[in-house]
Amino acid sequence: MSPSERYGCTGCDASILIDPVNGDNSTEKNAAPNRSIQGYEVIDEIKTKLEEVCPQTVSCADITAIAARDAVSFQREPMWPVYGGRRDGRESLASEALRDLPSGGANFTSLHNLFARFGLDDTDLVALSGAHTIGVAHCTVISRRLFNFTGKGDTDPSLSPEYANFLKTKCSNPPNPTTTVDLDRDSSLAFDSHYYEGLGRSEGLLASDAALLTNQRTKYLVQRFQNFWVFKDAFARSMVKMGAIEVLTGNNGEIRNNCRVIN
Ligand code: HEM
Repeated sequence: MSPSERYGCTGCDASILIDPVNGDNSTEKNAAPNRSIQGYEVIDEIKTKLEEVCPQTVSCADITAIAARDAVSFQREPMWPVYGGRRDGRESLASEALRDLPSGGANFTSLHNLFARFGLDDTDLVALSGAHTIGVAHCTVISRRLFNFTGKGDTDPSLSPEYANFLKTKCSNPPNPTTTVDLDRDSSLAFDSHYYEGLGRSEGLLASDAALLTNQRTKYLVQRFQNFWVFKDAFARSMVKMGAIEVLTGNNGEIRNNCRVIN
């Protein structure tokens, strides 16, 4: 049985882009782990221009894969090849996001098992976690680590005390639901290897980041990826692999006219 037969249609099919209709909360976009995603208008803008020059040709799934590559490559050469030809899914289910997205509180075993279900190994896990060199997490996601780790008002001992104190100056207890902190303390707007350097100093913001230090091989990779060029090559390879997960081709799926709406 292929992973897609076992696990439904989670994959690179732009199902995340579908807007809920009439307040229907069951689409992927509305699933709790996806609610903070932004930037959908960027995909709309690209799609509108493409439809003007070559209608019904480039799928929203391909646009998303290329935009993800270019978002981190624009200062340099394109960092990896994006093979086109993906088709767009005709289904978008919140239940799949809840089932298939790893939690920020996940330990190594659950991260390993989840990635393995999609054919991704521990090198992919560590390399793709490097995407946390960019962006932010909400205080709500890390509040327990800071203020009530074992239910006794304590702090996760796997966080460096200095970093934990710094985070406590950013996140209140109880957390403000809209407050965020940088995932990479040093340079959260740059694609670099500072995420791994921070992790090596016990400054992994999410429990899932810190979990990469709890396995010998992934801990070794965290050290290796502190070299930007080693990280960049591994990230590129893993993005190509992730971009091929359960892709729809042939007569499956469609080329959407509007990335937010199933045709
Ligand atoms: C290894 C398993 C992963 C876990 C457990 C995880 C978990 C999370 C969590 C909890 C957040 C914070 C969300 C929020 O508070 O709004 C986050 C943010 C982010 N994640 Fe991951 N993630 C994982 C893998 C990935 C991968 C594979 C990528 C992309 C290749 C990625 C890219 C990002 C980015 C860019 C952000 C920042 C979003 C923003 O600034 O709004 N993550 N992740």
